[in-house]
Amino acid sequence: MKFVEKRNGLYFPTKEMKKIALISNKKIYKEARENPIKFWEEQARQIVWFKPWEKVYLEEPPYFRWFVGGKLNISYNCLDRHLKDKKDKIALIWEPEPLEEKPRAFTYYELYKQVNKLANALKKLGIKKGDVVGIYLPMIPETLISMLACARIGAVHTVIFSAFSPEALRTRLQVSEAKFLITADGYYRRGKIINLKQNADEGIKETKVEKVIVVKRAGNEISWNNEKDVWYEDLTKNESDECKPEEMDSEDLLFILFTSGTSGTPKGILHTCGGYTVQAYLTGKWIFDFHEKDVLWCTSDFGWITGHSYTCYSPLLNGITTLIFEGAPDYPTPDRWAQIIEKHKVTIFYTAPTAIRMFERMNGNIAKKYEFKTLRLLGSVGEVLDEASWLWYFKNVGKERCPIVDTWWQTETGGILISSLPGIGPFKPGFVGLPFPGVKAEILDEEGKKCEKGKQGNLVVLPPFPPGLLRGIYKDEKKYLETYWSKYGNKIYFTSDAAFKDENGLIRIVGRVDDVIKVAGHRLSTGEIENALNSHEGVVESAVVGVPDEIKGEVPLAFVTLKPGFLVSEKLEEELKEIVSKKISPIAKPAKIIFIEDLPKTRSGKIMRRVLKKILLKEELGDLTTLANPESIEKIKKVLGL
Ligand code: WT7
Repeated sequence: MKFVEKRNGLYFPTKEMKKIALISNKKIYKEARENPIKFWEEQARQIVWFKPWEKVYLEEPPYFRWFVGGKLNISYNCLDRHLKDKKDKIALIWEPEPLEEKPRAFTYYELYKQVNKLANALKKLGIKKGDVVGIYLPMIPETLISMLACARIGAVHTVIFSAFSPEALRTRLQVSEAKFLITADGYYRRGKIINLKQNADEGIKETKVEKVIVVKRAGNEISWNNEKDVWYEDLTKNESDECKPEEMDSEDLLFILFTSGTSGTPKGILHTCGGYTVQAYLTGKWIFDFHEKDVLWCTSDFGWITGHSYTCYSPLLNGITTLIFEGAPDYPTPDRWAQIIEKHKVTIFYTAPTAIRMFERMNGNIAKKYEFKTLRLLGSVGEVLDEASWLWYFKNVGKERCPIVDTWWQTETGGILISSLPGIGPFKPGFVGLPFPGVKAEILDEEGKKCEKGKQGNLVVLPPFPPGLLRGIYKDEKKYLETYWSKYGNKIYFTSDAAFKDENGLIRIVGRVDDVIKVAGHRLSTGEIENALNSHEGVVESAVVGVPDEIKGEVPLAFVTLKPGFLVSEKLEEELKEIVSKKISPIAKPAKIIFIEDLPKTRSGKIMRRVLKKILLKEELGDLTTLANPESIEKIKKVLGL
């Protein structure tokens, strides 16, 4: 069936699509705009609440609360509520990396039992409501089970991406003061076993972690500390598979997720129970148009917000099947991802532009060899999906049948805020579409005036703030106020993205306006990479900028000044790249290190990264009057051979 057709350069849902889509009438936008609070209140009734709210929305800028006084549990909504009519339905499919290993599937009932067993075990370990539990696990079922088990007992999970280095893990555990960590012995990545436990052992040093729960996944040899370590299996095997869900207040903390900001240290973004649940539930349902038989493959790792909201919570809240994959999409053969779509009859495929560009550039256009008959809808997230990649994705994966929802959101927003709806459209290559019903997004100029159509400005969100928007930064109120609520005052949420609207009001995202770069969709702070570089004994200072890359969207490039006695060499360049890889993650490794004498700075000593970027991109440098050392520019150009 064809779900989308082209009209006047835009793409619209076909009649057939409109017929099956949950939302196909535009009036929903108008209704929601007229009374967004009422809109969210009505939608929130689709969630099971143990106790109804007393007040829907309260705002004391820049603080706000949703469903005040309401009590619920997200794990109850993901599991228990489906036991009546979906007990034997597949909730989760896991595709391991090794081809010889069989996939595993869990019905809703099986998942329910696994979650309850772990929840009981966690309680027995002494974990209570409000305690922070670190989850440092690969893409295996136990990761999702751990998240839900924490949520069930009211413990606050903080998932740390398994490819993060021990040092990155340590910082996050230190900031969140987690006393418990759930990890694994190892996992498969491109045919190799990664010893995750070793990283965990290293990472928990100088933290408050008292107990480490270890999932046996790869069977690799690991070191063991009898006082701290306990096998997941031993811990859970004799536990009851019934555990009463904790009644959580709507505004109780659900999880902390660290993300990169402008400064060198990661920020612990806070999400609460009620608002997050409602937004994750509804945005997934309407944007991916979830139907009973859907199999969603959201390729995001659980370590990112997309993995939280659309790999784990939203599909389960909606009672559909979610697929997770342990390995790399191009291993052992470049078409592994395509095989997975066919093998598991995926109907909705949600991935990042970097992956799309990678698929596109594979030898012989692999996608052409597949029919992808089961696919109905495609999604994209994390960075700009440029027009050419959009068209390739549409043609080769969607076979010109499937709409593409390009979804804009952030770790901070908890759920999608801008995207076309599949039963309404329009879908326009390069554009993310319209704000979700009930969401007020605008584009403002530097003075705070609305930008006219076509004019680029800053993307902001206006009150009432979406239910899933962050409630704070863990233990750093100052940063919360500064980052989001200072640019336009405390009644306007500043996203740090530049954007513009077309003549139909469709939004196009231009990119970040702060010192955050998006490398293969991963969010990195230039400051964090600089800190890593500066820790090398030979480095005086460094400045990192993102430069365009064909596949990854952007890659980091570093300018470094050296102490006397340290000579420029390939070896030193390698050492510096390694330090970043070790301190953060291989993703953050600079593509190139450029050794220079002097960094361009303002009179107050701030490094002018934007000037460096412009030099690299051979753009006009613009106003340089604030520059304290203009002579640095010529020298840099010389080093670069410009
Ligand atoms: C930043 C947030 C939330 C999902 C994963 C990323 C960029 C996100 C899009 C999109 C263009 C996008 C923005 C945003 N971004 N989605 N569809 N088109 N850019 O979450 O790591 O918190 O990054 O990703 O720059 O601010 P994140």
